[in-house]
Amino acid sequence: MDNTDFSKPRALKPVLGIETSCDETGVAVVRWEPEAPGRGLLAHNVYSQIKLHADYGGVVPELASRDHVRKLLPLVRRTLADAGLGLEDLGGVAYTAGPGLVGALLVGACAGRALAWGLGVPALGVHHMEGHLLAPLLEDDPPQPPFVALLVSGGHSMLVAVEAIGAYRILGDTLDDAAGEAFDKTAKMMGLPYPGGPMLAKLAEQGTPGRFHFARPMTDRPGLDFSFSGLKTQVLLAWQASDHSEQTCKDVACGFEEAIVATLIIKCRRALRAAGATRLVIAGGVSANRRLRRELAVAAEQDGFRVYFPRPAFCTDNGAMIALAGAIRLASGQHQDATVPVYPRWDLQSLPAA
Ligand code: KG4
Ligand code: ZN
Repeated sequence: MDNTDFSKPRALKPVLGIETSCDETGVAVVRWEPEAPGRGLLAHNVYSQIKLHADYGGVVPELASRDHVRKLLPLVRRTLADAGLGLEDLGGVAYTAGPGLVGALLVGACAGRALAWGLGVPALGVHHMEGHLLAPLLEDDPPQPPFVALLVSGGHSMLVAVEAIGAYRILGDTLDDAAGEAFDKTAKMMGLPYPGGPMLAKLAEQGTPGRFHFARPMTDRPGLDFSFSGLKTQVLLAWQASDHSEQTCKDVACGFEEAIVATLIIKCRRALRAAGATRLVIAGGVSANRRLRRELAVAAEQDGFRVYFPRPAFCTDNGAMIALAGAIRLASGQHQDATVPVYPRWDLQSLPAA
């Protein structure tokens, strides 16, 4: 083991970020630039496993792990080349340590840990949802805490009060299906191929607003938790009773998307009031949704809050958000010893201050 003292704040050398929590292999190099984090993004690449899982209608964990093994190191090599850097230029390595599929996480964690060991630089396991939450910092005019974050991905729908980087209080959480999961499952029910969520959203864009009206779950009572599994059943019943025409498919998709978006916006408004915040950050795969982005901009105008999104490529899983979160924490002297802990579940609120 090397005997370098990694506990002191480090000179801000570039950090390699590795994301392998699910079905995307993401790699990026980021140097932490507190004034303008986006300027510190030196290169990033994502390899998507969509084709691999398409035949099965969903992610097959074992196949995901094996494919990360195949793709990760070539992607690291390509990303370093894109950044014009060699391994010797890295000041640290960050990898997603959870939440996610354990086998898939282990691929990135082992490779990242071993690389850091070999290079004699610190390594750090990053919380995937903290990565999503910080992704909007990579854009121009980044949000300053305090803010409220809506994290909407395939595994989570969460509202989080962010006092500072690392100081997170969960205001509302998923009770059953997450928003992205509801998109994916509804798409599958309607016979759309995997990955259904983005395709359902595309069809919804061409649908007739208002032809199908679905309930906005749990908005008729106080609280900030989310439940989307009942909505999925409502949509199924409407779809089964319909003529299954192409236009009806688009109209049902539109009604479904309207219900999800309206529900998310009602809860965001409530969360902003509850936290006394005037800034809202939206991140995670569903934050790529165009209706959500459009309608939130209108709500922000009406209520006088500001809304911040990552670019679409940084809404879904990517290495840049992991490199950024890792670079911030490594710069403050945080690091992990030579173990490789990964967590299928991991409470965001248990993270230390950055
Ligand atoms: O953050 P992400 O890439 O992976 C997880 O951490 O889960 O999110 C993936 C989720 C999927 O459920 C996918 O259907 C959803 O994000 N998604 C979308 C859109 N693009 C991706 N949902 C609605 N509209 C979109 N445009
Ligand atoms: Zn994600």
